[in-house]
Amino acid sequence: MSFENLTAVSSDSILGLAQAFRRDPAPEKIDLTVGIYRDDDGQTPVMHAVAEAERALLAAQTTKSYLPPIGLPGYRTRIRQLVLGELDAGLADRTGVLQTTGGCGALRIGAELFAVAQPDKPVYLSDPTWGNHHGLMSGAGLGISTYPYFDLDGHTLTMDAMLDCLQRAPEQSLVVLQASCHNPTGADPDAEAWAAILDRIEQRAHLPFFDLAYQGLGAGLQQDALPVRMAAKRLGEFLVAVSCSKNFGLYRERAGALLMVAADAGQRRVLESRVKQIARGMYSMPPAHGALIVDRVLADTGLRNTWRRELAVMSQRLAVLRTGLARALAERRPDLDCSWIATGNGLFLQLGIDTGVVDRLRDKNHIYMVRDGRINVAGLNGHNLAVFADALAPRLP
Ligand code: LMR
Repeated sequence: MSFENLTAVSSDSILGLAQAFRRDPAPEKIDLTVGIYRDDDGQTPVMHAVAEAERALLAAQTTKSYLPPIGLPGYRTRIRQLVLGELDAGLADRTGVLQTTGGCGALRIGAELFAVAQPDKPVYLSDPTWGNHHGLMSGAGLGISTYPYFDLDGHTLTMDAMLDCLQRAPEQSLVVLQASCHNPTGADPDAEAWAAILDRIEQRAHLPFFDLAYQGLGAGLQQDALPVRMAAKRLGEFLVAVSCSKNFGLYRERAGALLMVAADAGQRRVLESRVKQIARGMYSMPPAHGALIVDRVLADTGLRNTWRRELAVMSQRLAVLRTGLARALAERRPDLDCSWIATGNGLFLQLGIDTGVVDRLRDKNHIYMVRDGRINVAGLNGHNLAVFADALAPRLP
């Protein structure tokens, strides 16, 4: 027997809960687990721009042959532009792009690349962060440290402690920074704070690895990429993991990209050759369908405008839900300041309740959220927001 020494491991902390939700027969159950955008009816619709692009692709397709290992050329160029904006020729020349299997694929391949280049250096993740960052980084063999990011009781960023930690981290560490819509807290640094973070990064020669999973779901397409564009103006090297899962609603199509800004064009070619080799050793070629859709939407002015409008509706809905939840909780708990709930960005917010309360909400009220108290704001809607506020308010600390 080859596998007799293996025992089962527990399900992923987020995906396992989504499964438990599906099994719960209670009709009043509320799903605030996995970070998926939902509309007011609880659906995750195919965006109109995406459906139209798909119809056109189907009509025009002539082959299912492989994509080049580095990915679809048009997709790579357009993603680079979406993230970095209009590039001058110099920056374009030193920015490599690998099409990846979603944002996770980009994070893992970026981590593998760093592990080859700097095998003894650690990676720093925010505390708290999205649980799977740990698996993706340790899977590449990197030693993991954390930097303080958020005070759960005060609901504020712990900027001084973060800067202090980055100052003391070994030089040339890899530092994963969520560019916007921080998962799980929804709290992002402002421009001044990002400038201070990039100062530390530069002083200590760290390599920033931006995780850009929600561009357009927070404060807008440009603003959500702010720290990446700031880095492009001042740093010689950095990485960006891009996901099209949320902003194009292409979750299952696994469209992502790893951007590698290198010191010069020669170094960019070296990095591209390396990540192609890493990807070849894992899965060979990226899947085509999602990237073809994104390419088509971004290349066509009409489709691009439709997409931007749809994305704006999604981000506005998230902002309205945050304000609605803050108001509903304040009405039920006038003794508490709930205004911070309205100030976050994107899909997530972390309520600052302990796991006992999370478990009771699940077992007694059939309300499912991640055990660290994170909710997917998009899981709220006109039908369940008041029910959720009624259940949560008396349990808020
Ligand atoms: C989440 O954080 O819920 C999403 O990013 C989905 C996932 O894969 O965990």
